[in-house]
Amino acid sequence: MNLSKPLIMANKLKMTTRVSPIIIALDYSDTSQALSLIDQLDPIRCQVKVGKELFTLAGPQFIRALVNRGFKIFLDLKFHDIPNTVARACTIAAELGVWMINVHALGGKTMLIAAREALAQYSQAPLLTAVSLLTSVDSTTLKQIGLSGTIEENGLRLAQLAYESELDGIICSGLEAPLFRQSFGRNFLLVTPGVRPVGTQSGDQKRVLTPKQAMTNGSDYLVIGRPITQAKNPMGVLEAIELEINTEIKL
Ligand code: C5P
Repeated sequence: MNLSKPLIMANKLKMTTRVSPIIIALDYSDTSQALSLIDQLDPIRCQVKVGKELFTLAGPQFIRALVNRGFKIFLDLKFHDIPNTVARACTIAAELGVWMINVHALGGKTMLIAAREALAQYSQAPLLTAVSLLTSVDSTTLKQIGLSGTIEENGLRLAQLAYESELDGIICSGLEAPLFRQSFGRNFLLVTPGVRPVGTQSGDQKRVLTPKQAMTNGSDYLVIGRPITQAKNPMGVLEAIELEINTEIKL
């Protein structure tokens, strides 16, 4: 597989580490199901994301076990709280040895800076990313919560907060990736959920793109859950995605 894109910035030290652009979302409510997929995965082929569902079920011990098995973990707990609480939570996440964590940009600049400063003490700090707008949010949701402006305007404003707070990147829809790449340059990571290979169901995701479209639009990492985890043949889907991306990424 050609993994050239994430070579450009792979970690805080901006070292060139060869990593896959694929992050598999382990959204399971049963640890044994998660482990059964993990047993089939090679940490070189993907990172894995543990979110609120599995973390609430299996906790930090499970994270440590995955780290010990050589997986790069994106701990997707989307912290959003007062700055002090978020900073403390980031510190504890860093001590688990995870590769990436995230916070909500909606928490504001003081909270974002507190998160970043909390990680400054670690030589091997996790990448710190922010959620701009959830990919399940559409214009109806924006109206419901009282945010004026378009999805793009709100997403850009929130991403700008993360950029100005010197976070490592943003979680964004692949549809926003071209604008964000243009606005924030090459060194700001774009991590994209809402990815759906052709022929798979969108589910609750509203702003979806295929893996190929998202990579073409400038995403560095693709977060893919149900298309792989709910597939009859998860490894077959992973392989198909690798091939799809491979046809698009140029050396
Ligand atoms: O199953 P699916 O591919 O939709 O999973 C997407 C994953 O990415 C889920 O774990 C979800 O929590 C996460 N996510 C998201 N949108 C964001 C941030 C994270 O869908 N903005």
